[in-house]
Parts: sequence; structure tokens; C-alpha cells
Amino acid sequence: MLRSRLLGVGSYLPERIVTNDDLAKIVDTSDEWIYERSGIKRRHILAEDECTSTSSIKAAKEALAMSGLKGEDIDLIILATATPDKTFPATAAIIQRELGAKGAAFDIQAACSGFLYAMSIADSMLKNRQATTALVIGAESLSRITNWLDRNTCVLFGDGAGAAIFRAEEATDSIQSFGIHDMIIRSDGNQFDLLCSSGGAATSEDCGKITMNGREVYRHAVTNLTSIAEEILTRNHLSHQDLDWFIPHQANMRIIESVVQKIALPMDKVILTIEDTANTSAASIPIALAKGFTDGKLKAGDLILFDAMGGGFTWAAGLLRL
Ligand code: ACO
Repeated sequence: MLRSRLLGVGSYLPERIVTNDDLAKIVDTSDEWIYERSGIKRRHILAEDECTSTSSIKAAKEALAMSGLKGEDIDLIILATATPDKTFPATAAIIQRELGAKGAAFDIQAACSGFLYAMSIADSMLKNRQATTALVIGAESLSRITNWLDRNTCVLFGDGAGAAIFRAEEATDSIQSFGIHDMIIRSDGNQFDLLCSSGGAATSEDCGKITMNGREVYRHAVTNLTSIAEEILTRNHLSHQDLDWFIPHQANMRIIESVVQKIALPMDKVILTIEDTANTSAASIPIALAKGFTDGKLKAGDLILFDAMGGGFTWAAGLLRL
């Protein structure tokens, strides 16, 4: 059978760092309030001449280097983003041009669950032989859709990009085999208004700014992240003890701790970036995945559980053996 094997990862965080103390000079907040409620200390913010494609290309080049591949070896690019360079065409097309990749390139939008949605689509396409080598990217320029005068939202978000390369390879159906073992994606459009942009191309003719009902998002996030993690473990006949690592979407430390407690995982199995990156939406999981490698934590044979939740609402989970 064919399985999607992870060959390499990369990430990019802009040079400019904005601390909680910096934000306290703009809005009525404090380092203490932000850290206690979210676990965030600082976030990276794009320079004026940077955007989603430039961050994506830097992360992709790192992933290519780790994989020992060239741009022309890639025949599928899927970019998950809520902040594309332009309304159309897809930002993935710019990335394809820059890397000299072939085949298909397109964007998908599933807010903070976007990377896992993209990974799920790539996995299906690789298994169906529609492509051989996929570059899956999560990248956001959230600073461009943040209302910097709204303390309810501006303290929570940051910019960045992460990339992963998967290749279809022959494998066994044993859980010990490398590759993506399962993906679940879900959405509930009834919750559309709880976390959304205030505008869009077809409504306000601009991209709007982030709006959010924080308490409701928090409540749904803990419920959905927990239930989908339990579902994917159960349907693969796994328990939390079979997992080597948990890589959740990095939105809020309290959300992560609550989910980790509910699925009975020790915190030292969780890969965290939230303190230094804040919430980078679709970029957060691949940035954390790349950090797991640079920190020397992730090793061949490790089993990783991914878990994400975001606007829509959308939520998703995945199981990957390195
Ligand atoms: N600094 C200081 N005070 C603030 C700030 C701030 N930055 N923001 C809000 N407050 C105030 C509020 O105005 C409120 O004051 P009031 O009681 O006088 O009205 C008070 O703090 C308490 O506000 P709450 O909203 O009740 O605070 P809560 O404990 O719920 O924490 C938070 C707010 C951090 C937003 C939390 O609800 C949360 O994390 N929600 C999830 C949001 C999230 O993660 N969104 C990201 C996208 S979704 C995703 O990725 C899963």
C-alpha cells in the first residue's frame, strides 16, 4: 500500500519581535494579563516588504534542503492560509513559480485547522497517485488583518510560516510503518460568526479585521480538540500511551493544558511554541513540527498526534509516524 512519508520540514518566523510590554504601550493591557490568560510572551511580525508568499518560500526552501530535494521534484503544492497575497490567483502559484515546481498548486482556507486540512488533501492525492511529492504549507500574515487597537484580539496573534514535504512510498499497513496513518477533518458552519474577519472581497471589498467571541471560542476549542483526538485514537485502536508526541494548534496555553489533561498525556510529550510565536493560525502546527526537529526531540519511528481548531468552526486531527 502507498503511504505519505514525511521527508522534510521548514519554518520561517519574521525577524521583528513584538513583546507583551510593547503591546501595553498601544492598548490597555499588561504582560501579566496576556501571559496568564494565554501563555504568550511575544510574537513575530512581518516587515513591510514581506508577505505570505515570501514567508512560505523561506519555509519551503528549508523543507526542500532537509528532504534533499529540488523545487522541480515537487508536483503538488497546497498552501493553507487565511491571508493570501492577493484575492486571486492562489498564493501557491507564486510559490510554485519561485521554486520551479510542476504539477498542481492551490490554496485552501480552513482558518487555524488549515494545515491539517491541507495535509489530509495531500495525503488523499498522493495515495490516489494524482501526485508523487507534495509540499504542504501553512502560512499567515495575521498582522495585516489584526485591529491593533482591539485588546481582545491583538494580543493573541502573530505571523509565520511552516512547510512539510510528503512523498508517496510503498509501506505496510502496520501501525509501526512510517507515514500518515489517518486524518479527520470536521466543520460546523453554525459557529461561523464566533470567530471571523469583519470583511471580505465579496462583501466589504476589503479583507476586514479579526473579530472573536473569546469565551465561546475557548469553550468550543477544548470540546472539539478533545473529542477529535479521542476519536482518531479510538478508531486506530491506540491509547495515549502509544503516542510519542502531541502537536496541537498553538492558540492558547490554557486550551492546550486542558486538552492534554483530558486525553491523559504528560506535558513533556507536547511540543510548544505558543510563548514565542502567539497564534499563527494555519502556520502554527508546521512551525511546531519544525521546532520539534530543530530541538532534537523528533526521531525516526516516533508517532505524532496533531490536533487543531479554528474559525468556521473547523477542527481536525492527524496521526503521523516519522
Ligand atoms: N488585556 C487586559 N484585559 C483584557 C484584554 C487584554 N488584552 N482583553 C480582554 N480584557 C478584559 C476584558 O475586557 C474583560 O474585562 P471586563 O470583565 O471588564 O469586561 C476581562 O479582561 C475578562 O475578559 P474575558 O474575555 O472573560 O477573559 P478570558 O479569561 O475569557 O480570556 C481570552 C480571554 C484569552 C481571549 C480567552 O477567552 C481565550 O483564549 N479564548 C480563545 C480565543 C482564541 O484562542 N482565539 C484564537 C483563535 S481560535 C483558535 O485558534 C482556537
